[in-house]
Amino acid sequence: MKTQQADVVLITGASSGIGLTTAVYLAQKGYAVIGTSRSLARLSELQEQAKAKGLSVTPAELDVNSDEDVAAVVPELIARFGRIDALVNNAGYGLWGPLQGLSSEELRAQFETNVFAAFRMAKAVLPNMLERRHGTIINVSSVAGRVATPFNGAYVASKFALEGMSESLRQELWPYGICVAVVEPGLFRTDFYDESQVVGENALSPDLPYQAAVERYRRKHGNILRFSHDPIVVAKVIHKAIRSRNPASRYPVGIEAWLGVMGVRFIPSRIFQAMVRRSIM
Ligand SMILES: NC(=O)c1ccc[n+]([C@@H]2O[C@H](COP(=O)([O-])OP(=O)(O)OC[C@H]3O[C@@H](n4cnc5c(N)ncnc54)[C@H](OP(=O)(O)O)[C@@H]3O)[C@@H](O)[C@H]2O)c1
Repeated sequence: MKTQQADVVLITGASSGIGLTTAVYLAQKGYAVIGTSRSLARLSELQEQAKAKGLSVTPAELDVNSDEDVAAVVPELIARFGRIDALVNNAGYGLWGPLQGLSSEELRAQFETNVFAAFRMAKAVLPNMLERRHGTIINVSSVAGRVATPFNGAYVASKFALEGMSESLRQELWPYGICVAVVEPGLFRTDFYDESQVVGENALSPDLPYQAAVERYRRKHGNILRFSHDPIVVAKVIHKAIRSRNPASRYPVGIEAWLGVMGVRFIPSRIFQAMVRRSIM
């Protein structure tokens, strides 16, 4: 176990949900935590929760989608803290809608936040980690990074891409003492499915043939969401991955994530896809 090493942790998208919960949890565990958001004002909840527990978390305004922002802010934080021991690429959102109804711009924006931002952030912290031959990068993916579901194609594509990139990065960095791992949450109670979710502009167009299927999907998905869990479970898994000297490549979190991962692995794909379709549309 690395108890003393991973002490400065930078978490993106720490203004709500999994990022916020992880930031407070890691601060409780004694880490120096930097939590980022596109807006400092949105980090007030994080600061209040930390303060209520007698903890302090450093807020940082950072747009992970901007090369300029990352190039300016991350080195500043490294200079201030002396190092970044762990980076948690958590910022992300879901673009919802049948693929046929999405525009290329919407798909690009989805990849910008869920894939390119993680790439950009990793590049920003790597020189410091490589210099010290030490560090951990956790990419928050999803069970959707392994199991494709209808009407989430853009999100699924972005998380599959994030997982592939993480696996290559993991192999490239292993010889230099830097660990890369992916965390794959199932269903967790955050802003993800309401405030943060982006519905494609033409996703519900009457010109598309999916109306009835979308209705069924919405009804079933609404029922499934009632089983979502407290994001503290994800925070604990992220902590486990950060303090491990030899983290696993992937950490599914939650029973539905495990079922998905096992299903896609062991059930013939034609049967498994029919099961997925039937359960949610
Ligand atoms: N909740 C779940 O069931 C679930 C399941 C699987 C995977 N995940 C993954 O977990 C991560 C965190 O999601 P969450 O559930 O905690 O959702 P959330 O409560 O909506 O939080 C998302 C965080 O990401 C940032 N973010 C959202 N959209 C962004 C954008 N367009 N550009 C840059 N930053 C953006 C937000 O920060 P600001 O808006 O303040 O910048 C916010 O702090 C995501 O990567 C998501 O894919 C969640």
